[in-house]
Amino acid sequence: MDRRDFIKELGAMGLAEWAGVGAMAQAAAAPLRQLAASKGLLFGSCLALKYFVQSAVYQQLFLAQCDIATPEVHMKWNSLSNQPEVYAFGNADKFVAFCATNHIKVRGHTLVWRDELPAWATAQLTPGNGQAMMVDHIRKVAGHFAGKLYSWDVVNEVLDPGSHRPDGLRDSPWLQNVGADYIEQAFRATAAADPHALLVWNENYLELSNGFGSAKRTAMLNLLDRLLARGVPIHGVGLEAHLRGEQASALGDASYEAFLGELGRRGIKIFITELDVQDATFPADAGARDQAVAGIYSKFLTASLRQPAVRGVVTWGLADSFSWIAGYRPRKDGLPVRPLPFDANCQPKAAYYAIAETLESAPRRA
Ligand code: XIL
Repeated sequence: MDRRDFIKELGAMGLAEWAGVGAMAQAAAAPLRQLAASKGLLFGSCLALKYFVQSAVYQQLFLAQCDIATPEVHMKWNSLSNQPEVYAFGNADKFVAFCATNHIKVRGHTLVWRDELPAWATAQLTPGNGQAMMVDHIRKVAGHFAGKLYSWDVVNEVLDPGSHRPDGLRDSPWLQNVGADYIEQAFRATAAADPHALLVWNENYLELSNGFGSAKRTAMLNLLDRLLARGVPIHGVGLEAHLRGEQASALGDASYEAFLGELGRRGIKIFITELDVQDATFPADAGARDQAVAGIYSKFLTASLRQPAVRGVVTWGLADSFSWIAGYRPRKDGLPVRPLPFDANCQPKAAYYAIAETLESAPRRA
């Protein structure tokens, strides 16, 4: 595919205007955390400590680029407890200690999720003990890290328009065994266990301006209004933003910015929490693919960072060699995925420069 065909391809994806992004700033970009800090923003990534064992260069990259981090797996229920009443905080404690030593804020992830539950909990959960098990888990985990974390993803991925419920709630072990007010109970229990952490509702597909995304946005605003009116301590919303290359035209438009504005009007702090770009449908040519991926980062972050309520950007990994996308959505042609700002050798890609440019041109937060 030559450049002209590729530009036509980007045009079809609604990315032509972003095609050259990243090229300009090649020489100039400072570490992303520094560029973000200069605008009153946080920049960081998820992390699993095993990546540092596999690559000391990755540890250096992480320290250079990030001032906030999310444990990719260490604080999930199935990582903390594999038998009833027994919790092992070893890895999670090491993660928090590493971040504290390096002045990196920690986003706790995640207390109440339908996924990554230990087998014993799934087996034991009933409508009779659901509330007690949920609150007990929150007390144990949020209590253990009390005062040490910047924020908690208290609930994760709780909406699903496909459930056809009037409240838009996703069917889950928590909905079945605690009831529709499990979200309120989870936030109240977390606030009691750790009064210092920012309490966040983390959700997926809110970034999409299509039927599914819009239905989720409406369900979130309606439920948020009900919960805030009851004084439920919800301080922030996390947009996962696992972006799909083929959905570029459904990203970063006026309805998306209006949604962020609605959250901001309710006093909600917004975080981009799991940003990456799935390149499964992009051309095989690495250079062309990197440009397309960079175009998506630019389009999405330019629209997102225009909103003053957006306080931070967290990617779901920094370098392609440590991305969950390789397992979650590999390419049909078997080529390695390239969803993140740095390549497998921890070298900056067009996406890195695209992110740097959007941070450089973002309005400063008050
Ligand atoms: C993923 C991790 O990246 C994988 O390593 C793990 O096997 C599965 O979970 N939404 C979330 C994240 O909230 O916690 C998920 O992380 C990706 C989707």
